[in-house]
Amino acid sequence: MCGIIGCVGREDETLDVLVHGLSKLEYRGYDSAGVALSGERVDVCKKSGKIEDLRAALESRTLGGAAGIGHTRWSTHGPPTDENAHPHLDCSGDVAVVHNGIIENYQELRDELATAGHTFKSDTDTEVVPHLVEDALADGLDNEAAVRRAIARLEGSYAVAVVVSGDDTIYAARNDSPLVLGIDDDAYYLASDVPAFRDFTDRVIYLADGEFATLSADGWRVSDVDGNEVDKDVDTVDWDPEETGKSGYDHFMLKEIHEQPRAIRQCLRGRVDELSGEVDISDLGDLSPTGVQFVACGTSYHAALYGAQLLRDAGIPAQTFLASEYATAPPPIGDALVVGVTQSGETADTLSALREARKRGARTMAVTNTVGSTAARECDHALYIRAGPEIGVAASKTFASQLAALNLFSLGTTRIDGAREIIGALRDLPSNIQAILDDSNAESVAETYVDSGAYFFIGRGHQYPVALEGALKMKEITYKHAEGFAAGELKHGPLALVTEDTPVFAVVTGDGEMARKTIGNVKEVEARDAPVVAVTDGQSDVERYADEVLEVPETHPQAAAVLANVQLQLVSYYVADKLGRSIDKPRNLAKSVTVE
Ligand code: AGP
Repeated sequence: MCGIIGCVGREDETLDVLVHGLSKLEYRGYDSAGVALSGERVDVCKKSGKIEDLRAALESRTLGGAAGIGHTRWSTHGPPTDENAHPHLDCSGDVAVVHNGIIENYQELRDELATAGHTFKSDTDTEVVPHLVEDALADGLDNEAAVRRAIARLEGSYAVAVVVSGDDTIYAARNDSPLVLGIDDDAYYLASDVPAFRDFTDRVIYLADGEFATLSADGWRVSDVDGNEVDKDVDTVDWDPEETGKSGYDHFMLKEIHEQPRAIRQCLRGRVDELSGEVDISDLGDLSPTGVQFVACGTSYHAALYGAQLLRDAGIPAQTFLASEYATAPPPIGDALVVGVTQSGETADTLSALREARKRGARTMAVTNTVGSTAARECDHALYIRAGPEIGVAASKTFASQLAALNLFSLGTTRIDGAREIIGALRDLPSNIQAILDDSNAESVAETYVDSGAYFFIGRGHQYPVALEGALKMKEITYKHAEGFAAGELKHGPLALVTEDTPVFAVVTGDGEMARKTIGNVKEVEARDAPVVAVTDGQSDVERYADEVLEVPETHPQAAAVLANVQLQLVSYYVADKLGRSIDKPRNLAKSVTVE
């Protein structure tokens, strides 16, 4: 949700580096984009629309300066106009600021600054920051002290980067919004996320809340609120820059769907003992949960629903809460563990729920894809899903990896009947997913139903979260109405929506009672003339009642959920593609939602 970047030390390449970095951060927001370079003066170019629009605007401009900052916006305060695009300037035009987050006391600050004679050009909360810096400079403070004084006035969440004319230093600070530094031999970067500068360096420093960074061609320094130097570890990222490219696919989402076999292998590597067939996640510390509360949003919430079922299957009480509703959840009991499932590790609702859980005395664990993320740093334990960077705004491979990781969590912390069988099924996931990717008829199913009025998804047990996820994916990238239901719930109301124009995707795996009951629900929709698309492993006779079949290999029901989801991802992808949607950057959405 908004991406910021900064670069110093690249001399006349600064602008290119910034625009390249913004293109890598565009998944965080794509309402507008802008850059500022600081030399003798501060030059700004900003534009509503995507990075391409900024590139076009830059063609007729010459920007000079050694230190640069940039921003790609997901609007929170004010519409996506040129005026509301970052960077924002003070009255003199000597201070430029980019910001990700929300300044909660901005109205109060804005009123105060306006009374003191400052004029504002945008509707944003961010614009107070350059004016606060301007005020501090007018009081005779040097640039760093002025930025520090401005930051000290802010309440809320921010990752902020500031440049001042005549100074080739970037000043930056964070509170509750991600900010990472990139360290090269003679150039330094900062960004909301590593892909922004991964093409230039693999050495990174994750800033913590309350830390302040200065970057200049001479080096970097991190300090605390009082200005005391902080010793920071320089970490090395373990993924290649190519992982953030499309590798020949039309869209990141399609590439990421196809990366699922590898993502699952990475998730399992070193955690499943090849000889004993046991799961070892002891590196996470002593988890031994007596009860678990999951908190999460969106796709991660669906993964959490699945994870809670796994634990309940193993006899551990487990509940799932939408993170934004956690305030109303019952307090965790005894030594309960509260698990935040969050791909980005930066989702404000999830972070807030985890903080609330800590206040209530619970231990916390993050199930996340992002090393160094706020969730990973703040929780007592972090289980990394190791999916690799996911750029498409719609989560695909990270959902599969979350399901795999949650299996590891339940297998590694509980005694489960049939554990060997589940482990075998997890090991088979990469090849089974590959078989689906090689043979799927999802594109022809998409072609058949691309003009349908709405889409429904049903499933039971482990397949219920898959039905919810199938519907979310369809909504996100096709902009068409889609709903997921527990199969048994359909007859309690939603059946009234079912017509010959509303295909129902039914996830039916295995041949047990769950399958039998879901087939009963399939017959109910069939009797109302709705087309039925069965996602099935062929163990039941659901095909008899289906107009179309999407096959998945036969496996354990827990692993079948991952496989069925791949088919549904592909259907949504191809429907969206046929409708010409902006698949990787759906309207109104952002990859990482850092506001509550
Ligand atoms: C998934 O396709 C969505 N973009 C969204 O629902 C996402 O899963 C949600 O915002 C949570 O994100 P997180 O996993 O980074 O916390």
